[in-house]
Amino acid sequence: MTAMAEAVVDLDAIAHNAGVLAAASGPAGMMAVVKADGFGHGAAEVARTALRHGATWLGVASVPEALALRAQGFTEPLLLWLYPPTETFDEVLRAGIDVSVGGVEALEALADAADRTGTVATVHLKIDTGMSRGGAPVEEWMQLFTWARKFESAGLLRVRGLWSHLAGAEDPQSAHLRTQLHEFEVGRQTALTAGIDPPILHLANSAAGLQVPEARHDLLRAGIGLYGIEPVPGRSFGLRPAMTVRAQVLLTKRVPAGTGVSYGPDFFTDRETTLALVPLGFADGVPRQAAGRAEFLVHGVRCPVAGRVSMDQVVLDVGDLPVRAGEYAVMFGPGDGGEPTAAEWAAWAGTNPNDILTGIGARVSRRYEGAP
Ligand SMILES: Cc1ncc(COP(=O)(O)O)c(C=O)c1O
Repeated sequence: MTAMAEAVVDLDAIAHNAGVLAAASGPAGMMAVVKADGFGHGAAEVARTALRHGATWLGVASVPEALALRAQGFTEPLLLWLYPPTETFDEVLRAGIDVSVGGVEALEALADAADRTGTVATVHLKIDTGMSRGGAPVEEWMQLFTWARKFESAGLLRVRGLWSHLAGAEDPQSAHLRTQLHEFEVGRQTALTAGIDPPILHLANSAAGLQVPEARHDLLRAGIGLYGIEPVPGRSFGLRPAMTVRAQVLLTKRVPAGTGVSYGPDFFTDRETTLALVPLGFADGVPRQAAGRAEFLVHGVRCPVAGRVSMDQVVLDVGDLPVRAGEYAVMFGPGDGGEPTAAEWAAWAGTNPNDILTGIGARVSRRYEGAP
């Protein structure tokens, strides 16, 4: 069976990007963030490649994501950072997975689990330094550290990391970033006061790792850069986009001027033209909001999406190009061959490239090129 629509993942690009990010990392190296199925690229394939090219850690959001990596044979240090309040952690601790903790309830649950399973819970204490998302708020830092120290003394828990997440690092001089860097240092000092001296401090994402040396600390948590999206608009670190999404044209038809296309219709051809049907729709990650601006590359030429994006398909206005069924229409790729990039799709849809990459649906088959 040939794939009607596919996402081709270039593992050589992932390897290259891992090398660039690892070179910008602190002494504990680089964490390959492979949550959301490796930003849509395939968690296991990305993890394997990144680990061979400089990554020392893996990071995911959820318990099922972490357990899946262990089940696939990944034995490297692995951190997870989101779980429900009812999580018991037995399986997580048996699998040797590090857990992010931002509150005393989770510390207690982990200590209980360690006691039950005869293990030691390895945790990274997460402090909120100004993003107001996960992590302990400043007024709870001391309490968190004090309880962590208590469970450490009881032999149930080991604090391996102290960490926080940045709201943005695109502008190294931004006042908000500077405040977060300062708050993280305050957090470290507060931890030391409570008798906690975590060996691994981590704060930086791709952008911070690449251009804010003060944010690097011991470990760089790299997501978007690993997948080849330049994390700082207007600056190139030589990263290579790893994913190309394309689909075969299913049929073409010649239509006169004034022909209505797709739902509504709210698009009418302005001349006699050829329309090409491409089996990628919003269920596959083509954003509906991009209609009116979006383009695919077909027959070597950028062609606009005509009319609304349907669930399973789009129609391209290919003009007088001699496009035939079976030819590939490229939604996005590295951009080398004139095709749009994920960053361009993000601009057309009013979103970010992460949204475009993770939005590529399960129906689009993944194919791997290059060496892991
Ligand atoms: C907690 C955490 N750390 C690091 C990253 C990686 O950030 P970036 O994709 O900007 O490199 C993410 C990704 O969203 C994240 O959620």
